[in-house]
Order: sequence, then C-alpha cells, then structure tokens
Amino acid sequence: MNRSPSLVLVAFSWLLWSLFLVRCFCLTLFLCPALLAQGQPKDRVGRLLEELSNAPGPSGFEGPVREIITRELRGAGLEVATDGLGSVIGVLHGSSESPRIMLAAHMDEVGAMVRYVTPEGMVKFQLLGGWLDQALVDQRWTILTSKGPVMAISGLRSVHITPSEERSRVTPRDDVFLDVGVRSKEEAESVGIRPGDAVVPASSFAALPSGRYIGKAMDDRVGCMMLLETLRRLKEQAIKTPNTIYFVGTVQEEVGLRGAHTAAAIVKPDVGISLEAGIAADHPGGKPDWAQERLGAGPVIYLADAAMLVNLRLRDFFQRVAGENNTPLQTEVTTAGAEDSAELQRYGAGKPSVNFAVATRYLHSHNSEIERSDLDQAVNLLMKVLPRLDAKTVAEISRF
Ligand code: CO
Repeated sequence: MNRSPSLVLVAFSWLLWSLFLVRCFCLTLFLCPALLAQGQPKDRVGRLLEELSNAPGPSGFEGPVREIITRELRGAGLEVATDGLGSVIGVLHGSSESPRIMLAAHMDEVGAMVRYVTPEGMVKFQLLGGWLDQALVDQRWTILTSKGPVMAISGLRSVHITPSEERSRVTPRDDVFLDVGVRSKEEAESVGIRPGDAVVPASSFAALPSGRYIGKAMDDRVGCMMLLETLRRLKEQAIKTPNTIYFVGTVQEEVGLRGAHTAAAIVKPDVGISLEAGIAADHPGGKPDWAQERLGAGPVIYLADAAMLVNLRLRDFFQRVAGENNTPLQTEVTTAGAEDSAELQRYGAGKPSVNFAVATRYLHSHNSEIERSDLDQAVNLLMKVLPRLDAKTVAEISRF
C-alpha cells in the first residue's frame, strides 16, 4: 500500500529526467554548428599565439609579453637574461660557441600613452608607433594603470550631428579622445589614470575555419611565435646546431628599433635574422607596387625596405635552402617599414642580416590577419637554415 505512491514518484521523476536529457541533446545539436562557426579548434601553436596576441604590450610596456617569452625560454631549459632596456635573451648552445646567430622578434606592439586628462575626465593620448588616423576612432582600448586595467572607447561623432560635407572626412589624431565613462578629471584619477600610462588596443584573437587567424599585435607576436616554436622543435628533435643561437624578444621596435640595438651589444651576433610580420597588400585596392606578399604563399624574405638592403649571400643561402627543401619562399621589395634586422646589420663593423616574415594584412590596427600555413612553413625553413649556419658557411656569407 505504501509502495505505490513512491513508484509513481519514481516513474514521474524518470520521465522528467528523460525530458531533460532529450532537451540537452537537442541543445547540443543546435549549438555545435554555432560554436564551430566561431572558429577552428586551436592546437598548441594556436593557443600560444592567442596568448601572445591578446597580451597587452605597447612599446616600453612589454612586461606581459616578456613574461610569456621568459616562461617559454626557461621551459625549454635555456639560460635567460635581460638587457638594460628590457629585451629578453635566451641562449641555446650548439656544438660550437661561434658563429653566434641572433634571432630577434620584437615584443612590443603599436599603442599609445596617456598625455593628460581634461577637466571633463576625457583622456588625451600620444601614439606609440605608426598609426593611421582612421584606425583610431570608434574602438575599444585598455588603459594599463597602477590600479589595474581600465576599459576605454575612442569617441565618434554621431552621424546625426555631422554636416554632410564632413561625413567622409577622417578625424585627425589630435582630435581623438578616450572616454572611460567618468564625469571629471578627479574621477579619472580615482580609477588610477595618470599621465604616462600605457594605452593598448582591446581586441581578441580568433581562429577562422579557413585556417587563418585574426587578432591585434600580429606585428610582431607572429614573430615571437616563430621564435618559440623554432626553439621547441630544435629541442624536441634534439638537434645540435653547429653554432650558438640567441633567441631574443626585443623591446621598443615600433619606436625606432631601440631594443635590437642594445640587445645586439650583449649577443654580439655574427648573423642577424629578424622574425617579423610582413606587409601583405593582397586585398581589394592593394597593389604589388606597394608590397608583393600574399597570404598563404609561404614565408617572405625582405630584399629591401626603408631601412636596409639584404646581404646578397645570405639571400642566396635562404633561397637555396628553401629550394632544396621545396619550401615556398616569397620576396619583398618595398619602400615601407623598418625592422630589427636593420639594426643587427649595423652591429659592429656590419653583419649579414635578413628580415624573415609571415605575410600579414592590416598591420598596426585592432585586427590583423595571417595564415597558419605561412607560420608553419616559416618555422620549417628556419629548421633547415639554422643547422647549416656553421663557421665555414657564415664566413663564406660574410665575405666580399
Ligand atoms: Co614589426
């Protein structure tokens, strides 16, 4: 008699439970394609690049990126040191102390610095690195204060109150301000904002189903990724190179190659290779007269840019090794840009140097784009190049 109500209860709760499971199943079926559409699953390289891209690190404020690179260099068992400006240097000893090969990837990204706060609490800033004025308005930013990060937006005049003749005009950089949602200068100070605080684009990394990545600071976190992945593979494959390789994360590249200058004084390189984000103009309106790189066509060596001409024997060496290993290798001849390799080339009495890059669209903005296969091929080629840079080869490359 007293068992039948509990049987009814059990049957009822079983029914509820089954309905719940069916609902979960339907939700999963519905949500899965939506989740997949947001991106591809990320492997180890994708996840580390995501961490590097999302890390805030404008010129002079590279701390968070330095922490990641130091962690990875130490994790690979390297001795790690910093120079007087904050560049980080890891040493991988091969079978010979020389030649000394310097791989340099800059840790800094373009950003800004707080100049002053208006009585109304609006933040005015000075740019760090090269920006287009049109990239500045209507964006989210993070101000790195001593009290922690503060979210900011760059204001945009509403269309309703913009005269028709001004609607296609670009807002000059000096007119751009950051709104942090406060009402006064005092309130801005109370959340921690002070002159000299770093301002960094707020934008998050995404892996697209096509095999491409989008995110901020690909210039030069893709170079940092090349640096770390090359090291990881050399270690994993227990390759003993006939040289000593210096894995260097440099500071302040975007404001004039300053970190590469001081780091080179410690490394004393015989050969310099900067690992970089290249300039792709393969989009509507882009022209090969500006830059020849294309996404998905392999890594790039720079033959000329605004700051250096490549060492011709080093160029031939890269092209020969790429050819022998069937690795695609693009070339770039441009009047734009300057990279750490330009500084390495001027070290001492002059050293063979090259800028080695992954083609990147929309540099120096909140959203750049690269293709994963180019990154993989860049590391593949470095894995072939580095074990061949022995004393005899480097002497041959350095000869005139
Ligand atoms: Co760069």
